[in-house]
Amino acid sequence: MIKSSEEIELLRIAGQIVGDTHNYLKQFIKPGITTKELDKLAYDYIISRDATPSFLNYEGYPASICTSVNEEVVHGIPSNRVLQEGDIISIDIGACYKGYHGDSAWSYPVGNISEEKKYLLEHTEKSLYEGLSVIKPGMKICDIGYAIEQYALKHKLGVVKELVGHGVGKHLHESPDVPNYGKKNTGMTLRKGMVIAVEPMLNLGTADIYILDDDWTIITADDKPSAHFEHTIVVTKDGYEILTKR
Ligand code: MF3
Ligand code: CO
Repeated sequence: MIKSSEEIELLRIAGQIVGDTHNYLKQFIKPGITTKELDKLAYDYIISRDATPSFLNYEGYPASICTSVNEEVVHGIPSNRVLQEGDIISIDIGACYKGYHGDSAWSYPVGNISEEKKYLLEHTEKSLYEGLSVIKPGMKICDIGYAIEQYALKHKLGVVKELVGHGVGKHLHESPDVPNYGKKNTGMTLRKGMVIAVEPMLNLGTADIYILDDDWTIITADDKPSAHFEHTIVVTKDGYEILTKR
């Protein structure tokens, strides 16, 4: 699970391509665009950077990015759905460069959104940074989830527990699992050179979810909105470095 400095350099490039893809897509997230159009823009951009979309064909996944709108939590499949003013959309992007992956999700407003959706986006993003803030060698994996869960509870948001963060490297999903909840001082010890994706999914209502008949899209059980913020990071000598920077 510990990456060499050569591997970290490639993971840094892969992560930067993912961050840049987010930056590039952002300008197109407006009422009137379809999620399929966003997928095509992302595909073309990632290819133009000499990388490949990590998600395309991953366990049969049929697109380059995940586009999850409103009550969709994660793994929404790009389609002819047209974004509407007031929607929120979580865009999850993976890119593979010279065999190494980067993975980052972000939730965006579409035009003007309600106060409660603003609240959800603001506090889900903050919960990600709360989780990251505890990372340094010697800390435990579950210290991350503990920090995220405490922050979410304080803000009365539901923490999705069925899906977790993960190691990142030559594979998109590696050990260890990185849950968004947990007990302090439990789980594997973090060490310099570990690369992990931390990815809280928080709901305005219940934490409960279900999966649609397409076998991919995850939805909140009460149909209330959900947000998802994810960065891939490397554990450093005294903290962490975000590899999927914007
Ligand atoms: N980014 C997702 C994750 O964080 C992976 C999407 S899986 C796919 O684990 F199959 F949809 F590609
Ligand atoms: Co991930």
